[in-house]
Amino acid sequence: MTSAALRSRAWKLLEMVTTPLLPSDYLDLVSPLRAGADLCGRIEAVHPETGDAATVVIRPGRGWRGHTAGQYVRIGVDVDGVRLWRAYSITSPTNRQDGRVTITVKAIPDGKVSNHLVRRAKPGTMVQLDQATGDFVLPEAKPAKVLYLTAGSGITPVMGMLRDIEFDDVVMVHCAPQPQDVIFRNELHDLVADEKLRLTEVHTDTDGMLDIARLDELVPDWAERETWACGPAGLLDAAEELWSEYGVQERLHTERFRPSIVVAGDGGEVTFSATGKTVDADGATPLLDVGEEAGVLMPSGCRMGICFGCVTPLKAGAVRDLRTGEITEAEPGVLIQTCVSAAAGPCDIER
Ligand SMILES: Cc1cc2nc3c(=O)[nH]c(=O)nc-3n(C[C@H](O)[C@H](O)[C@H](O)COP(=O)(O)OP(=O)(O)OC[C@H]3O[C@@H](n4cnc5c(N)ncnc54)[C@H](O)[C@@H]3O)c2cc1C
Ligand code: FES
Repeated sequence: MTSAALRSRAWKLLEMVTTPLLPSDYLDLVSPLRAGADLCGRIEAVHPETGDAATVVIRPGRGWRGHTAGQYVRIGVDVDGVRLWRAYSITSPTNRQDGRVTITVKAIPDGKVSNHLVRRAKPGTMVQLDQATGDFVLPEAKPAKVLYLTAGSGITPVMGMLRDIEFDDVVMVHCAPQPQDVIFRNELHDLVADEKLRLTEVHTDTDGMLDIARLDELVPDWAERETWACGPAGLLDAAEELWSEYGVQERLHTERFRPSIVVAGDGGEVTFSATGKTVDADGATPLLDVGEEAGVLMPSGCRMGICFGCVTPLKAGAVRDLRTGEITEAEPGVLIQTCVSAAAGPCDIER
């Protein structure tokens, strides 16, 4: 008998012994990071960065395929017994010797996952992972001049880039309320001391919000620089407008952590037919939030329309895409992204 046939027979025997569970269920308990298991990671450390931000060090399981600087990873975390998925930019360099990856999370008021990771996550905790993804990355050919324009936790994907690749001429403009809120401040200042970075910190509590027109004074050659920008919608919208006005929009790369909601309309009664729940929803709240609030198990990922982790059949009625205002009506096979869709009248979501 070949060794493959022997293995298959041994596995069948194990299946008989472990029924009703599968042998792999037991293996998940003793060796969750093994090859072939659902991709998981083990939190190995949590390092505070600022009063409300922390870096979480994760050892991914065998199936992890690595990442490109600037990409993000979807993480499934159990908070009060419920598995919640969120996206976090990877802040470790791609060549980290110990194979671990880091994410850096800023706790936001009432944020379920961010507060859990920053304030309560303990080493040894298992999290579920997806492969790294995202196109907010550096090009293969090194640009001559680079500008990083960031605010708050928007510094995270850029830190992944700064740690990964050195450029000859890099300028960074970063906004945070006060100096002590600047995540990675010591490391940034070390790079400045080594002349690897020119940095302007804008402290919005004292300087006010960054008026994008100030770039002329802060970085006079900004329009010549390949630029990566990440921060709140106001900053990114203003940057996109400015770069377009100067006809250099192809030099601007942006990453948003939240969708730009532009259109809302009338809501309606939402039925989650598989769960048997019906609730009233306004026309501005994403159906993902409506479902979660009602206690319906809703799949999700980035919560901003880019990962398709929330896609769900629309059984009846109509929904509005909050980014464009476009209405989608139910017909067989129609799928919607619940994180960027709101009720547009009565509707039935297959959850
Ligand atoms: C591609 C991508 C990369 C990301 N990278 C990072 C990262 O590196 N570090 C990081 O800290 N976060 C990052 N985020 C944001 C992160 O995914 C979560 O949205 C954030 O941690 C809030 O989740 P929560 O569960 O704590 O909040 P929730 O419980 O989902 O929301 C609580 C309240 O806060 C509001 N809210 C949700 N998200 C935000 C937000 N980002 N800013 C302000 N208010 C919000 C909600 O509308 C709600 O009212 C990224 C998001 C994306 C899409
Ligand atoms: S959760 Fe990512 S697209 Fe909806």
